Amino acid sequence: MGPEMARVLVICASKEGHTEHIAHHVARKLEDARHVTRMINLSSHDGEAGADDYDASILAGSVHRGGFAPELTSFLMRHAPAIRARPSAFLTVSLSAASHDAHELAGLGEIADRFLFEAGWQPNFVEHVAGAVHDRQLNLIEKVVLHSVVRQQGEELDASGNTDFTDWKRLDRFVKEFSRILD
Ligand SMILES: Cc1cc2nc3c(=O)[nH]c(=O)nc-3n(C[C@H](O)[C@H](O)[C@H](O)COP(=O)(O)O)c2cc1C
Repeated sequence: MGPEMARVLVICASKEGHTEHIAHHVARKLEDARHVTRMINLSSHDGEAGADDYDASILAGSVHRGGFAPELTSFLMRHAPAIRARPSAFLTVSLSAASHDAHELAGLGEIADRFLFEAGWQPNFVEHVAGAVHDRQLNLIEKVVLHSVVRQQGEELDASGNTDFTDWKRLDRFVKEFSRILD
């Protein structure tokens, strides 16, 4: 066990599963960098015993109808002192992050800022990650709405029904930067 190894808590709140996928990826990359991780998916009611016992934390949440899941807010309320006292990062996951429209991106920034202000949390990193559209996870109305949002953004939908906008290389760069402040 080297002194450079940190215990990193990776928390996610995910409705259609994409943020969970992102959180798993981040945890795996941190482990590749020889850190120890623990992942908790708040949306699947994983236990959170010992969630304060970490050197750093990364919270990831998807945007739905202009906001984050209430379980993310309540997790922050319960663990704010520990999270604030150590290095932390906030990953937002949304379709807006895949947009090239300045107004759309500014709106996403406001959603994140409001959430962070209300939680009284100033993470070391705020990373806006482009999400995905998984048709099978959506009801008809959600599908129609999301498909039209994607087309408005000038993007294409994959014929498989799974369209992934996440820039995984950029996510890996974030993990590298985050790892650097843990050393
Ligand atoms: C009902 C619904 C509402 C959504 N609302 C927004 C939104 O307001 N802004 C946005 O940028 N993306 C929105 N999205 C896109 C999601 O953030 C995106 O699909 C993300 O990948 C979902 O992550 P998850 O699978 O972890 O829940 C919405 C998706 C759904 C299904």
